[in-house]
Amino acid sequence: MYSGLINNYRSVLPVNDKTPIVSLHEGNTPLIRFYNLEKYLGANFSIYGKFEGLNPTGSFKDRGMTMAVSKALENKNIDSVICASTGNTSASAAAYAARANLKCFVIIPDGQIAFGKLAQAIAYGAKIIQINGNFDDGMSIIKNIADEQSNVCVVNSLNPFRIQGQKTISYEIFDQLGKLPDYHFLPVGNAGNINAHWIGYKEISGQSFNHCNLCSGNCEYMSSIKHAELPVIIGYQAIGAAPLATGKTFDNPRTIATAIKIGNPVSSEGALGVVEESSGWFDTSSDDEIVDAQKILAKKEGVFCEPASAISISGLIKENENKKINENSSVVCTLTGNGLKDPDIVMQKYTKDVKKVDPTFKSVKDVLMNI
Ligand code: F0G
Repeated sequence: MYSGLINNYRSVLPVNDKTPIVSLHEGNTPLIRFYNLEKYLGANFSIYGKFEGLNPTGSFKDRGMTMAVSKALENKNIDSVICASTGNTSASAAAYAARANLKCFVIIPDGQIAFGKLAQAIAYGAKIIQINGNFDDGMSIIKNIADEQSNVCVVNSLNPFRIQGQKTISYEIFDQLGKLPDYHFLPVGNAGNINAHWIGYKEISGQSFNHCNLCSGNCEYMSSIKHAELPVIIGYQAIGAAPLATGKTFDNPRTIATAIKIGNPVSSEGALGVVEESSGWFDTSSDDEIVDAQKILAKKEGVFCEPASAISISGLIKENENKKINENSSVVCTLTGNGLKDPDIVMQKYTKDVKKVDPTFKSVKDVLMNI
């Protein structure tokens, strides 16, 4: 029986027999081939979505949180966890802390997180601290707390165990696809996840190619194969919150994709290294492009992801138009969170084809006949 990603990938994670595993059976999310999208885009390559919105709290954060909270519980001095968040980290931290009987504090920007995410943090019993500032303000407060309070564990992505948990996405993709993809698109906010993907891919590539038939070692030929096998990583940011794509911090980031409304990412340096090493790049989408991509995916494939996640798809649409994707290649888009977390976007931005009629067979039939 599947019992969560720590048990599944134990041999590549920093846990031991004494680590108390705190799990909600996260991971094992589907890698879905998007045939309709391929057709719609006239793509001569295959497109897959890794639907992380199907994790227990509805986002990829659960991969990191099972590790971070398990390691926090292993440390007997810790009685609380804390994070700053644009919403998903707070939901995930609150759920895993509840399961571990730890206290949870979350710092969120007042009025700027999706309603579903706030509801989750409340339901899981977190102590919620709203600040009259943005995510980046929250993050600088967190850094001070990390230095001062030894009983409180910071579970933002600067916690290295978060990244270790999140790297398992690459292992799953490799297992599901039977190979590494050629291209990988993902949204970038605080920039932990792009680093996690890359660590996973590099570990896998090292493992699959550590036997050279010619020299049985790590010869030059081997390193060239390793490099060639690794996917090109393409990170997308919203135009109004694009520090990595533009090379400058944003004091007042703005975007409809609140999950990635971040102006000064904590893991910028690593993220820049990833795109360089993978021969990838950063680029941006407008809010309209993000919402369009969300709609296309929902309507063509039945996959409803949140706006931040849809930027993977809007990025792919753009790079397909720019002819940047090689023929016959395989492309994976990480769909980081579930669309149900942010229903307000649908109510504001979608055409709602809702008919109200009397509760009779005849009136329903009239509607059916007139479609
Ligand atoms: N997609 C979603 C749905 C997210 O919630 C986040 C980050 C990202 C993408 C970007 O990932 O930060 O590792 O580059 N959300 C954080 C939070 C910041 O607080 O929930 P990243």
